[in-house]
Amino acid sequence: MMGLLKRLWAVFDDRTGTSKLFGGALSHPVPNTTGWVGWSYALGSAVLFAFILQVVTGIALATAYIPSTANAFDSLVFITEQATAGRLLRGMHNFGATAMVVLVGLHMAQTFLVGAYKYPREANWLTGSVLLLLTMALSFTGQLLRWDQIAYWSVFVLAQQVARTPLIGTELTQLVLAGNTVNGATLSRFYAFHVFFIPALVFAFLALHLWLVLHHGVSEPPEAGRPVDPKTYRAWYHNFVERTGVPFWPDAAWRDVVFSLGVLAAVVALAVIVGPPHLEQPPDPTILEAYPRPDWYFVWIFAALALIPPAFEDLVILGAPLALGALLFLLPFVANKGERAPQRRPWAIAVVLLAVMMIGTLYVAGERAPWSPEFAAPPLPAQLLGPDPPPVVARGAVLYNQKGCEACHNIGGYGGAYGPELTEAGERLTREQLIIRILNGGEGMPAYAGKLTAEELEALVAFLESREGTEVGARERR
Ligand code: HEC
Repeated sequence: MMGLLKRLWAVFDDRTGTSKLFGGALSHPVPNTTGWVGWSYALGSAVLFAFILQVVTGIALATAYIPSTANAFDSLVFITEQATAGRLLRGMHNFGATAMVVLVGLHMAQTFLVGAYKYPREANWLTGSVLLLLTMALSFTGQLLRWDQIAYWSVFVLAQQVARTPLIGTELTQLVLAGNTVNGATLSRFYAFHVFFIPALVFAFLALHLWLVLHHGVSEPPEAGRPVDPKTYRAWYHNFVERTGVPFWPDAAWRDVVFSLGVLAAVVALAVIVGPPHLEQPPDPTILEAYPRPDWYFVWIFAALALIPPAFEDLVILGAPLALGALLFLLPFVANKGERAPQRRPWAIAVVLLAVMMIGTLYVAGERAPWSPEFAAPPLPAQLLGPDPPPVVARGAVLYNQKGCEACHNIGGYGGAYGPELTEAGERLTREQLIIRILNGGEGMPAYAGKLTAEELEALVAFLESREGTEVGARERR
């Protein structure tokens, strides 16, 4: 039996050249690693596996999903509730995306910590950085395809940010949304990006990335006191893997296989136990109080956007991505030699810890907030109310914060800039105008009728009536 298989394989290989094509990749020597270090080398291939999983489950979902505003939501309900294995596939696609984002993050942190981006592997890092951005883009475009309240408002928020880009903001927004608002054309555009354009880019950059891994060889585990010197590194590495290395297959690859199977098991288990994301109601632009909460790996970005003080908003919204992007893409240019060992590069450990802490804190802030993205405004400072405010005014100030007014309106420099400033509301608007606006809402302002008790409305109005400019009003009252 074995003899027959061997002969069959020999014939197949002879006619197709399979071993010539893959043999080099399989037998090339890699550093002999063990223990935790060895397993950390399996992160990259796990990302690749997660991506392939996404392609497979994605194609399956695409056979039943209808990318039109009228049908998208219902087709997802159909997939989830009736289609064969539909619930499993949606769940797998969802947790597969999570797995991909998490694994890309870990893979990146690991290669950064051990300085694997240093000479001669700078291009590995650069193509990897592009793949990170493409992964984020895939996740984000995928969310809109769910075409429910959450998806709709997440894209709405994104569009608001994109619109702030100087010079080309409007054009860029129109490119993303395929128009001025989130509508059917937006869905088509996101669909095309999600299933054709971005995956095609991922394949291209993956091919490059993998070629580079083969070309330069897998980086050796760093050792303190063994700095990278571009003049001698290649010769040294060649000698090192020839002497101490092992063939990739099977000595190192078994860990990749086991790790990837572990990822598959986790994704399937979560898909079965937790299931696909719950389908909210179809998007309704008039329901402003939806929870525009993106998938969890974007929550921290939304929280960051919401917490920027209004005065710096434009600066931060533009500056932060540019600065982060520059750091990502300049890193291998400015630090491509020298020590690789993390214990000799404490700043590298600090950067990873800081990033984890920042993302973690923002995530917690985002999850706690009752309202995203404009939320979590701190209570108004007491001095805004002046000394000894009447109890009803003080109560109104608390409600103003609790009911989310502060998220959109600015008073005395505190609060959001989405709605008109209310610092001098008491001077500008009559009591009737205030009541009408609060109860009926307006363009971009939710109607609070039925969401406030008479007592609460009275307190809010009393508070706003007491707003009569900053210093001037306060001085007159004294
Ligand atoms: C989602 C953001 C948002 C929230 C939350 C919000 N508003 Fe507004 N508000 C707006 C916008 C936008 C306008 C302008 C509407 C228009 O001109 O049609 C507005 C207008 C107003 C006005 C009229 C201002 C003027 O100069 O004409 C008042 C008063 C007001 N809001 C009070 C409140 C109060 C009180 C609350 C909380 C109970 C609140 N708003 C919550 C966005 C918001």
